[in-house]
This record gives sequence, C-alpha cells and structure tokens, in this order.
Amino acid sequence: MQTSQFQKPNPHYDIIILGASGFTGKYVVKEALKFLNTPSSPLKTLALAGRSHEKLTKTLQWAAHPSSPPPDVSIIIADTTHPPSLLSLCNQTKLLLNCVGPYRIHGDPVVAACASSGCDYLDITGEPEFMEKMEVKYHEKAVETGSLIVSACGFDSIPAEIGVMFNTRQWVAPAVPNHVTAYVSLESDKKIVGNFATYESAVLGVGNMDKLQELRRSRPRKPRPVIPGPPPPKGPIIEYQEKLGLRAVKLPSADAVVVRRTLVTLMENPHGLPGINESPEHTEKREAYWSSVKPAHFGVKIASKSLLGIYRIIGVGIFLGLLSRISFGRWLLLKFPSFFSFGWFRKTGPSEEEVRSASFKMWFVGYGFSDSSLASERNSKPDMQIITRVMGPEIGYVTTPISLIQCALIVLSQRENLPKGGVYTPGIVFGPDLQERLQENGVSFDLVSKTALRGRPAA
Ligand SMILES: NC(=O)c1ccc[n+]([C@@H]2O[C@H](COP(=O)([O-])OP(=O)(O)OC[C@H]3O[C@@H](n4cnc5c(N)ncnc54)[C@H](OP(=O)(O)O)[C@@H]3O)[C@@H](O)[C@H]2O)c1
Repeated sequence: MQTSQFQKPNPHYDIIILGASGFTGKYVVKEALKFLNTPSSPLKTLALAGRSHEKLTKTLQWAAHPSSPPPDVSIIIADTTHPPSLLSLCNQTKLLLNCVGPYRIHGDPVVAACASSGCDYLDITGEPEFMEKMEVKYHEKAVETGSLIVSACGFDSIPAEIGVMFNTRQWVAPAVPNHVTAYVSLESDKKIVGNFATYESAVLGVGNMDKLQELRRSRPRKPRPVIPGPPPPKGPIIEYQEKLGLRAVKLPSADAVVVRRTLVTLMENPHGLPGINESPEHTEKREAYWSSVKPAHFGVKIASKSLLGIYRIIGVGIFLGLLSRISFGRWLLLKFPSFFSFGWFRKTGPSEEEVRSASFKMWFVGYGFSDSSLASERNSKPDMQIITRVMGPEIGYVTTPISLIQCALIVLSQRENLPKGGVYTPGIVFGPDLQERLQENGVSFDLVSKTALRGRPAA
C-alpha cells in the first residue's frame, strides 16, 4: 500500500462524529450504533465529539435506548472555534463525520483540519457555496495529504446522485437520455417538520446567493458534459405531471449542482476515479458502472398532490427570496421559523413520532432518444421516456443518517478502492458501491416504466 508522510500509523478510532449532540447528530449516532462491532462491520471503534460532555452523554443514552450505552464509545470535547481541538480529533480518527451546521458558519475549520492532517471527512451539508468553496480552498492540499473530503452525504444529495445514475443506466444503447427531472414528494400521516438548523442554512444560503455567483465567476470555467440533443424546454412554473398525478415547482436545492459537479468529474475521468491501491475486481466493477452511466440535464422539483400544497411552497420561496437578502429580513425569518415556513420548520424539530411516520418518494422522469442518432437531427425531440423511483423513510433524520453511515462504511471497508485524497462529490466516490447498500438499509430503487413517445413531452 502507498504511504505518505501524512499517513497516521494507527488512529485510535474508526469514526468520530462531530456535532453528535445535535438534532441530526443524535440520529446519526443511533444509526452508527447499529453497525458498531457487529459481525463483518468495519466499524470497531467510535467516539462522539462536541462542546458539551453532558449533552454528548445524553445523546449516547438516547441513541442506545432501550439498551444501555456501549461502554467503549468515548466522548471528546471539541469546538469548531478552537482549531487545535479539531486537529486533535483528526489525529485520533480515520474518518470524521461532521454534523455541525450551518456549514457556512462552522464548516471551514473542520475541513481545514482534515485536509491538513490527512484525515478523511464526510458531512451532510446541502449548502452549494460551502461545498464549492471547500473544493477551491482545500482540494490540492487534500490530494497531497491523502484526505478524502466528501460533502452532501445526506438526503442532500445521495438519493439524487444515486437516483439519477440509476435512471441513466436504464437507457440501453442505442438509446440515450437527454434530461431527467426528479420530483420529490414528502409523505406522512402526521406533520412534516424539519429542525431549525436546516431552515437557517437555507435562509443564509438564499441571502448570500450573490456570493455563490461571485465564487463561480472567479473560477476557471469547467467544460460542460456533452449531452445528446437540445437542452430541455423551460416549461411552466407550476407543472402538472400527469403520469404521477402530482403538481410540482422547481426546488433550488443543492442536488442539481452536486449532480452537475459529478458529471463534470466524470467527463474528466470517464472511468470514474481510480482507487489508491485498487483491487482488480474493483477496477472492473468501477469501469463497468461508469461506462453505463450517461450524462443528462438534471433538475429537481418539489411535488404535491394538492394545489394548495404547491401554493404554500411558493409562499415560503417568496418569503425567503424577499426577506433573506436584508439583515432585518433575515432576523425576522430566523426569529419566526414556524410562521414563515407555514409550520414546516420548528426550533424544537420534529417529534420522534413525526420522524417515524414520514417518508419520501423521489420520481425520476427521464426523456431521451430511442437511438442516439436521432439526437443530432434538426429539431429533434425526445421519443422515449423512462421513469424510475427512489423511496425511503423520513428524509432529514432517518434517510440522512442511513446515507451518511453507509458512505462511512464504504470508506472504512474499501479505503484502498477509493481515491487517495481530494474534495469530491459523493456520486463520483461512492457511485459503484452505494446503491446496493442503500437498498439493504431501507432505501429502494425501482424501474417504473419505459415508454415510447410520439410528440414532444411536456418538460
Ligand atoms: N443533507 C440533509 O438532508 C440534512 C439533513 C439534516 C440536517 N442537515 C444539516 O445538518 C446540520 C445540523 O443540523 P441539526 O438540525 O442537527 O442542527 P443542531 O440541532 O443545531 O445541531 C448542531 C450541532 O452542532 C454543534 N455545534 C454548534 N456550534 C458548535 C461549535 N462551535 N463547535 C462544535 N460543535 C458545535 C451543536 O453542539 P451543542 O449541542 O453543543 O450546541 C450541535 O451538536 C445543518 O447544517 C443541517 O442543514 C442536512
């Protein structure tokens, strides 16, 4: 195995979860405990890190309930405002899972510590500016030290990344996809609620949109993926998806941006990213996987059966768009989250019952050409539709921990099959291995239909 001056001889822990006492962190701990010291699991040693010993102890008790807390899970005090405490974490672990957000406020020093020490890092951010900034600032250092840094390993953006690849892999040559739209539908017989920090991240993200544009303008343009056929039509603001019986509006989440970054990396590395010391079986698996993934335009919409549901989503979007750009507006939004989100976000987060009863469906409606030669004809229109679906439990506190922990288990069990280091999107790193693991843990992937079309489909 290749070694580097940054490689730590034997870190004490396999995983440290930073921000374990947070609303999401505690569910991540619960998910991690399912794999701690179980047969064939690579997770043998675990520690929880954060600012308060008392809160972390309570987290462990809550996560282990009804069993008693495992005696060998350590608690470590660390603060994102105290870089030496972060470096100390990095020196003690193979992999750091960062659950401290909003990431635009707390994330940079954590990534800096990992990149400089060679520690591997995963997080659950859905903040594009943070992700792109980390790539600019730390990619080269992380390549040099052998630190694998992967953001967006939660609901943002694992179902979208693995889901769009699943859809494009259903297009068997000579058929090619042109565009795929994901329709996210949240379901529950109780109220659907998210915790405040996710709302805060969104408010700060929308309020600082100009900074993201500025960052993008300052970077050299990367070549765009080559996609057969013309770009998709814009379509109406509120779309009625007849086949799904859903109305939908554009969701400006991180998913489309993350998927685009994965496709750009794939274009530069058509067989995916080779592992540091990859087994021949994995090379074969990786190359077969990536040769079956095809580039396509991708967008995400939030869907609802009722028009009223769509109007409420638009209402929240208008509040965020108008108020988040001025400081008094941001203050108002953050002071009264429940009011401005029509009850979708609460300072206290959802109850355990609300988490248990929620679920999601994400429909991927792909349009393309039954023969790639049709794509280059003048005024060509897609003549084929493929619908696939990803389904799973509640998004923020069940699917997110499942996704993060499965990514973490891939890092622990297959480190030699993964790139030496660098800042990457989850799709390009975990693509070949993740879908099967998600399926084994309650997130399903189905092919719904393949249909020949006569006219041009609605967007
Ligand atoms: N991708 C997704 O789909 C998804 C889903 C869920 C959450 N998230 C993201 O995850 C992040 C966390 O959300 P949450 O609802 O769990 O937030 P939260 O309940 O407020 O938890 C934040 C955690 O960060 C810790 N923390 C805050 N400041 C710190 C500091 N200076 N040093 C060390 N630790 C510090 C807190 O510790 P204390 O206990 O000491 O205060 C707490 O453990 C947000 O950015 C959210 O958007 C993403």
